[in-house]
Amino acid sequence: DEQQLAEAFDATVAAEGRIEPRDWMPEGYRKTLIRQIAQHAHSEIIGMQPEGNWILRAPSLRRKAILLAKVQDEAGHGLYLYSATETLGVDRTELTEKLIDSRQKYSSIFNYPTLTYADIGVIGWLVDGAAICNQVPLCRSSYGPYARAMVRICKEESFHQRQGFELLMTLMAGTDAQREMVQDAVNRWWWPSLMMFGPADGDSPNTQQSMAWRIKRHTNDELRQRYVDMSMPQAEALGVTFPDPELRWNPERGSYDYGAIDWDEFTAVVKGAGPCNAQRLAHRRAAHEGGQWVRDAASAYAAKQAERAAR
Ligand code: ACO
Repeated sequence: DEQQLAEAFDATVAAEGRIEPRDWMPEGYRKTLIRQIAQHAHSEIIGMQPEGNWILRAPSLRRKAILLAKVQDEAGHGLYLYSATETLGVDRTELTEKLIDSRQKYSSIFNYPTLTYADIGVIGWLVDGAAICNQVPLCRSSYGPYARAMVRICKEESFHQRQGFELLMTLMAGTDAQREMVQDAVNRWWWPSLMMFGPADGDSPNTQQSMAWRIKRHTNDELRQRYVDMSMPQAEALGVTFPDPELRWNPERGSYDYGAIDWDEFTAVVKGAGPCNAQRLAHRRAAHEGGQWVRDAASAYAAKQAERAAR
């Protein structure tokens, strides 16, 4: 009965086992996973836009090939994650409709503009660096399909981060104007990248339960701190600074202290008032509507094949 199933679920989670699609799970667990994985999938899909903006203006054939491959990887991550969400009993068309109707969220970070090619490097270095910090522990998430999707995604994200860093090292070895371009991009992306980890632990309604279910393995603030600590030596190696006068090593904590995050900005961006929210959603909506004939044709073809097979 239900009581026994609930006990088996709790025991599996406590023993670091995996919950699989056909296993019994609490309704809240299913809902939380759908919310988090769909939001993650949407972020990958919307995240193609800020970088896609530069594909036609990449400074060389080599840079264009790299960027094109990276944006394609992001499409792959999105599809992978939508498939993981479908194992929980939802339909990806429904999820896309929720995204374009603003009934589901995507990461705040993708609502900022990409103004120069240095932004492409900084997205790889900082945004993908933050994504890795957040996602590597999710490879140990209690839900099997999500954890397994995360393994491949993290491998590709690590590669993306390296390519961003390499792009920035190239620019830093260039002219003063190129170095200034990098510093300007770092100044614009640093604070938004800290916001990717979500609200401070005291203001995060979902963390406690998600940690108990082992969907999340660390709190938002723990991962944010890990990201700051990881990024500082990289900034030094690169020769850039972060726009935070309070950023300094704290020998007692063995970590970097950092200044206060502008949570009003975070809330505004999550609610739709960021610099590019309207543009991102309008573009996604147009792509979805413009692709209707492809979906119709594929369905008509599948129906015809099925009819032939039945004859
Ligand atoms: N942007 C937009 N919304 C956010 C963000 C953010 N950076 N951070 C938190 N939120 C939302 C949450 O989704 C939640 O809203 P909801 O309850 O309406 O869904 C609300 O703010 C409160 O936050 P939390 O209680 O802390 O939510 P949660 O426990 O889900 O933690 C987190 C948020 C850390 C982002 C978690 O969902 C997660 O680890 N997700 C997987 C990673 C991911 O989605 N990455 C996407 C960006 S990286 C990339 O794609 C390259």
